[in-house]
Amino acid sequence: MRRQVLVGVLCGALTGMAQAGDVQFARDVVPIFKTSCVMCHLPGNGPAGLALHPKGGYANLVGIASTQSPLLRVAPGNPEESYLYRKLVGTHAGAGGSGERMPFGDMQLGEEQIDVIRRWIADGAKAE
Ligand code: HEC
Repeated sequence: MRRQVLVGVLCGALTGMAQAGDVQFARDVVPIFKTSCVMCHLPGNGPAGLALHPKGGYANLVGIASTQSPLLRVAPGNPEESYLYRKLVGTHAGAGGSGERMPFGDMQLGEEQIDVIRRWIADGAKAE
């Protein structure tokens, strides 16, 4: 019995420590956008022209120019050159950007959620 509990705890810990390359856009990134972003970034007139729905707004992100800075919103393989990532860690002003750190308002993403998005970009920002 105790052994089963221990195995369960260890498996949970290992799942939380997924290695680079394990992140999937639809499974891991889109749920973060759904919880913390889409209430503002809706299709139509999303702030800064950015809709993160449907399908996580993939077509609005990867290889698409930011409206606030000279960077792309997502530069595959390069989180530091991706304005989306910089808006999440708050270094967007240093990239010629403007406005607030995202998500706008009192909410904050957890470090782990930001790291999921960083790893998704570093791994090539794949659609799947
Ligand atoms: C409460 C509303 C709100 C929420 C929630 C929100 N945003 Fe924003 N977002 C804005 C507004 C307003 C702007 C434009 C002004 C600014 O940047 O401060 C913006 C701008 C942006 C931009 C700049 C786009 C560009 O082309 O330059 C990005 C990227 C962005 N948001 C990503 C996100 C992400 C990712 C989340 C969720 C983690 C999120 N936002 C949550 C309101 C919101």
